[in-house]
Amino acid sequence: MVRRTKYLHWAFDHVGRSELDLAASGILPFGEAELPPLEGPIDARAYGTLVEAIAAFNQAPEECVVPTLGASHGLFVAMSALVSPGDEVLVEAPTYEPLLAVPEQLGAKVVTFERRPEARYLLEPNQIAAKMTDRTKLVVVTNLHNPTGVHTPLEVLGDIAALCAERGATLLVDEVYAPFVDLQKPAYASSAARLGANVVCVSSLTKCWGAGPHRIGWVTGSGTAIDACRTHLVTTLGHLPVGHAARGVHIFRHLESLTARAERDLAKKRDRVGAWMASRKDLSWSAPEHGLFGFATRTKDANEDLRARIEKGQRERSVLVVPGSFFGVKNGFRLAWSLPLERLDEALGRLGEVLDA
Ligand SMILES: Cc1ncc(COP(=O)(O)O)c(C=O)c1O
Repeated sequence: MVRRTKYLHWAFDHVGRSELDLAASGILPFGEAELPPLEGPIDARAYGTLVEAIAAFNQAPEECVVPTLGASHGLFVAMSALVSPGDEVLVEAPTYEPLLAVPEQLGAKVVTFERRPEARYLLEPNQIAAKMTDRTKLVVVTNLHNPTGVHTPLEVLGDIAALCAERGATLLVDEVYAPFVDLQKPAYASSAARLGANVVCVSSLTKCWGAGPHRIGWVTGSGTAIDACRTHLVTTLGHLPVGHAARGVHIFRHLESLTARAERDLAKKRDRVGAWMASRKDLSWSAPEHGLFGFATRTKDANEDLRARIEKGQRERSVLVVPGSFFGVKNGFRLAWSLPLERLDEALGRLGEVLDA
């Protein structure tokens, strides 16, 4: 049975529908006019060319990548390939809800481990080790962490991969936001894919390059794990449509201009948000060093579930952040700065009114 993800259904109904949107977690989608038109007729070779482009982007052999429809489909393919009913899957908390919903749907027992606010939400291998059992099949983390934006260095992920290897588990890293660490570097520079044969990574062009609507994603891995992902894709879809593949190849060819676009969009906003957060004595901020969102918890009235207040703020003041309850933290919210710089101060001002009302 498919489990309904409360967050995604809420996001479809709310995100992008406010005058001042502090909720959208990626670079806003580019318009058709921002890229040259798609070249030439689309032929059957487009899929192979997309595989080559993803492999080149990840500096991985072609047999180590499987294209997917965004990272969402990548997560589904990877988890379907790696998890059987009754397995234990260990997932970080707070978390992006599909990371819980997909393994639950596959019949796994989902257990969470905490990314502790007092440790600035950093991944702590001992927190993971403490929750592992003989039945732990998969450990799932995000990098950058959704919702706090906190970055985990590859050395720490390497320690977690080694820990998983000792216990016969696979580490799944959702790195859909990882390239934000340095958009000038190719994806492999920020990827955990090389940290061990038991590491599988999922990513896409959605968040960092504004290509969300085009659903260009992938899984990377090696050996039997990536073979199982490919088998899953072949069994369920054959392969992805050549029209999708041609679009993906086109976007990869124009990634340089999309990188420049993303860097323009990111400029100057994090510091402004940081200064605003510092001015709010009622909020504690995750203070991410990369990317375009972070997580605030409200220390005042810490038992209040902020969702009703946030939704009222959208109705009455047309400003929106994502309620923390969707990530498992009721007195918090995720704040993203994908909106234009010139609207940011106004958006923060209105959010302040919502919090103070
Ligand atoms: C952690 C994480 N993984 C995956 C996704 C989905 O990415 P895509 O749009 O590429 O399917 C999101 C979207 O919000 C996300 O936050």
